[in-house]
Amino acid sequence: MSFFGLKKIQRWLCYGVLTVSMVTMVSILWTINFTRRNGRGFIQVTDIDSLEVSTIFKTIKYQREKTPQIKHQTTEKLIKYKNSDQVISSGTHLEKEPSMLISQKPLKIYIYTLPKKFNDEIIKCLLLSRAYRGCFDLTNNGMGKLLFRTNGFAVMDSNQFSLEVIIHQQLLKSSLRTTNISEADIFYVPAYMGLACFCGQTSRTESNLVNDMYKHLQMQKPFQQQKPHFSTLAKIEREQTSNSCSLLKNKHSRQLTFIGIEKEANEGSRIYLGLKQQKIIVAPYPSYIHYYSKNISRIVTPSIKQRNVFIFMAASVRRSNAFRSHIIDQFQTKTKDSYQEFYNSDQNRGVKQVMLVTSECLGNHKNTTIPWMLHSVFCLQPPGDSPTRKSFYDAILSGCIPVLFHYFNKYQVRYPFDWRFNYTDFTIILPAYDKIQSYPDIYDTLQKIPAGEISRLHFNLQTVARYFQYSVIEGNISGYEDTAMFYIIQELKQIYNIS
Ligand SMILES: *[C@@H]1O[C@H](CO)[C@@H](O)[C@H](O)[C@H]1NC(C)=O
Ligand SMILES: *[C@@H]1O[C@H](CO)[C@@H](O)[C@H](O)[C@H]1NC(C)=O
Ligand SMILES: *[C@@H]1O[C@H](CO)[C@@H](O)[C@H](O)[C@H]1NC(C)=O
Ligand SMILES: *[C@@H]1O[C@H](CO)[C@@H](O)[C@H](O)[C@H]1NC(C)=O
Ligand SMILES: *[C@@H]1O[C@H](CO)[C@@H](O)[C@H](O)[C@H]1NC(C)=O
Repeated sequence: MSFFGLKKIQRWLCYGVLTVSMVTMVSILWTINFTRRNGRGFIQVTDIDSLEVSTIFKTIKYQREKTPQIKHQTTEKLIKYKNSDQVISSGTHLEKEPSMLISQKPLKIYIYTLPKKFNDEIIKCLLLSRAYRGCFDLTNNGMGKLLFRTNGFAVMDSNQFSLEVIIHQQLLKSSLRTTNISEADIFYVPAYMGLACFCGQTSRTESNLVNDMYKHLQMQKPFQQQKPHFSTLAKIEREQTSNSCSLLKNKHSRQLTFIGIEKEANEGSRIYLGLKQQKIIVAPYPSYIHYYSKNISRIVTPSIKQRNVFIFMAASVRRSNAFRSHIIDQFQTKTKDSYQEFYNSDQNRGVKQVMLVTSECLGNHKNTTIPWMLHSVFCLQPPGDSPTRKSFYDAILSGCIPVLFHYFNKYQVRYPFDWRFNYTDFTIILPAYDKIQSYPDIYDTLQKIPAGEISRLHFNLQTVARYFQYSVIEGNISGYEDTAMFYIIQELKQIYNIS
């Protein structure tokens, strides 16, 4: 997901040119690659158009990518799919196979102190920015101001691109931090190069900033010694590889691992963009929802029975692609009202499928989205300008079962910790395809899912939710083990073979 239509159009134009040249340049490579990718892809649907509507859901089988497994010791239990008609009674927890052991070695992280122009001054610049003033509230450890508390968690004004600040603040307060450079296993570079791209500088100023950052790093001994280093990306991977947002264009970036919200899903594009060797960890977009560190285990969200909206979607009406347009058109009810306001009106009593119309940086949806999701069974997540969205995480954390749509033969979307979690245990994955005329009605499709399966997904969502958020920082952080930071750190350990 990204900002503003105009930028989008520009980008799509560039992307068009890029795609055309790419197709010519790597078409041979693609033919080979396609065959290979489909072989280990997410799903095999041979002739989607010939499928009966009712069988679409059943046909979907999620095949996990063969990424190396990290050893775990799991405490959480997911309910496995047994029999679609079986109603889950509480207590029937089936353990995820195989039960693995997670590396327990406490990693020691050293945080560089960088000149302020690489972080603090970028935040100041955003506050003054004409285009984005009012978009970014990076106070409160990057999470934005507290809007309200509900169900034992905090709802904050968190911007989808705030990851750089949030991770920085989480690490500053982390028990893994060391200030003794000689005992560090890994080095964190607290630079906000993604946020810098919103500062309205020229391409030249922007790439000079990136160069200066690497000049600074090259003077640091651990960097010279090629010790493990990592940093963060605020924007999606592809967007930090452009002329005006150039961090990943810089060859020195290959010496770091980046924690980012989206890895480019099209392997052909990654190769074309020079990212083949780029190490990236996919982390959750910052949701509005944050757990309190004292309240970190299982948050109980409203039960399915308490949710009277069957299908909900929070999105702008921008028609970024044909498939999304089609999904938007399936919503007869579109509103900007809050849940309360909407159902106060008698004529809306029986409405079961609602789209909340949002617009970036404007309106009140930061206050209304979560209450809507807490009252909804399914939250649709159609791909927009890019395959992933912040709303997916808001849904997970609200206990609203996310419905993902995959173009299975186009590319493979990576989700946070998909080496660890089986996403079919807490999401619905439906096919997306371009022949939208014959696309089944989503309401009909989802209505065919047995009640037992809905309960299972909802139960599992509440079990995994805490790993899809960044907790409120109150005094000292404790219990990072129960947040997204835990699996991010586990992935870092895996990449650098620290165990
Ligand atoms: C923690 O959760 C409990 C129950 O969910 C709630 O009553 C309590 O207020 C929460 N604490 C905070 C700090 O929100
Ligand atoms: C820093 O760590 C090194 C290596 O573990 C250790 O020898 C040294 O005593 C530590 N220095 C301080 C000031 O703690
Ligand atoms: C959102 O809620 C907060 C806290 O209740 C309130 O201060 C703020 O004015 C609301 N925002 C809008 C745009 O209404
Ligand atoms: C993921 O879960 C689904 C059912 O929820 C199951 O059919 C599938 O085999 C699982 N995949 C893996 C790799 O465990
Ligand atoms: C925070 O950590 C410091 C040092 O580890 C300790 O002295 C202090 O008491 C802690 N504060 C709280 C509120 O736990």
